[in-house]
Amino acid sequence: MNTEIIKKRISVRTYKEQEIAQETLEKVKSFIKQDKGLFNVPITFTILDANKTGVSSPVIIGANTYIAAKYKKQKNAEISLGYAFEKLVLYATSLGLGTVWLAATIDRKAFEKAIDLKEDEVMPVVTPIGYAGEKRSLRESMMRKGMKSDSRIPFDQLFFQDNFDKPLNKENSDLWALPLEMVRIAPSATNKQPWRAVVEKDRVHFYEKKAKGYEKATTGDIQKVDLGIALCHFEIAAKESGLQGTFVQEDPGISIAEDMEYIASFVLEV
Ligand SMILES: Cc1cc2nc3c(=O)[nH]c(=O)nc-3n(C[C@H](O)[C@H](O)[C@H](O)COP(=O)(O)O)c2cc1C
Repeated sequence: MNTEIIKKRISVRTYKEQEIAQETLEKVKSFIKQDKGLFNVPITFTILDANKTGVSSPVIIGANTYIAAKYKKQKNAEISLGYAFEKLVLYATSLGLGTVWLAATIDRKAFEKAIDLKEDEVMPVVTPIGYAGEKRSLRESMMRKGMKSDSRIPFDQLFFQDNFDKPLNKENSDLWALPLEMVRIAPSATNKQPWRAVVEKDRVHFYEKKAKGYEKATTGDIQKVDLGIALCHFEIAAKESGLQGTFVQEDPGISIAEDMEYIASFVLEV
């Protein structure tokens, strides 16, 4: 996994009617068996054949294979799921497969039945996998336009130095430039981009900027899933930049707005 794959990933909702090569599918199967998530919260993935199980999404054309992910309700579960699922999305991208995170626009009942979801479990998202179609459907093109999927919030509105009063320019962000840029280009639910970060000398603190309507019983807090994606991208880019570190949860007590929540910090190992 590397930053080239992060840059290459894009949501695919229109697929070719072409079966996934057996060898490729086998690689995906063994990948989902190994994945461990973050903060010791295990994530379970299930590959579903749409023809056999009846699962579907109104925004997807042409795909017959889906992957659903679930966790047992507990602290940090959404973050772990976002982290593990994005690893899978990037791995699929590296194999030449298209994906798209789907939380809302799915036949949720059909998916939950197909993976035999229990009372104490949550399945926040699924993705189709398959080969991207030559041309996007009109619906997909309109969705991208509506969500401004090709643009992102400027760097200095997402990232800060020492506290939230000091915006951080990419030029001044030194060793953190690449990891933060990879957070900035991450996918997020309705492209809301709820990740914020405050940089200190040897650590980066991540926060969730909450918008209304993203926390539901059926999906958990979807914006925490977005934060898990951010941590995944950050870690991959940090490794590539030669930065060794780990994620911890030690709130530094930096003053935050009411709509914000501390998530985790990346701490450099010296
Ligand atoms: C947690 C999450 C949930 C999402 N849910 C949906 C969804 O229900 N339907 C959909 O069409 N796209 C969904 N998306 C895809 C986003 O709209 C997409 O990532 C964003 O617009 C940026 O576009 P890009 O992925 O092509 O960079 C979701 C993305 C994330 C990360």
